[in-house]
Amino acid sequence: MSNEILELCISSADLELKVDELAAKIQSDYATKNLLVIGVLKGSVIFVSDLIRKIDLPLELSFIAISSYGKGQVSTGDVRLRFDIDLSCIDKDVLIVEDIVDTGYTLQFLKTHLKNKGSRSVKVCSLLDKPSKRVVEVDVDYIGFEVDDRFLVGYGLDYDNRYRNLPSIHAVKI
Ligand code: IMP
Ligand code: MG
Repeated sequence: MSNEILELCISSADLELKVDELAAKIQSDYATKNLLVIGVLKGSVIFVSDLIRKIDLPLELSFIAISSYGKGQVSTGDVRLRFDIDLSCIDKDVLIVEDIVDTGYTLQFLKTHLKNKGSRSVKVCSLLDKPSKRVVEVDVDYIGFEVDDRFLVGYGLDYDNRYRNLPSIHAVKI
């Protein structure tokens, strides 16, 4: 197993401040709604756990697993459902929580998939956004940070399944 060289991009203190900010917005926007938070496995696990603990509203949490990447750093555009949510979307205001939006293929797939389940609304909160890599147009309603075209790891994001446990976000130097 090789060890990549990592460069710090977003500190854990900055992540915490951003999570507070996003949670406050979501809390006010969803005050009168029927919130169902759906975390996209596995990358959003840390983010969604921190986020929902800052949202002081009744809400439900579910997870969905999809895959679009092979072992490397490039999206194949071939999005597959690995496993589906365990809760009903009927009359729910769904908030998809993602780690990062890159080409947009994943979100495009997920939005259609979750709208088709009878949700009242479907919105998206992504910690990171890489707009320069977008291939398909998708609306992202809540964005933490816009980032450059570099491969990022930590705070849930992985490279070959490693580095998810880092408390801050780093770029992999190639
Ligand atoms: P998209 O379908 O190309 O938008 O890719 C979205 C998914 O690819 C994200 O949910 C991540 O799991 C993964 N991904 C995209 N960019 C990165 C990155 O820089 N680091 C780690 N994972 C990434
Ligand atoms: Mg992901």
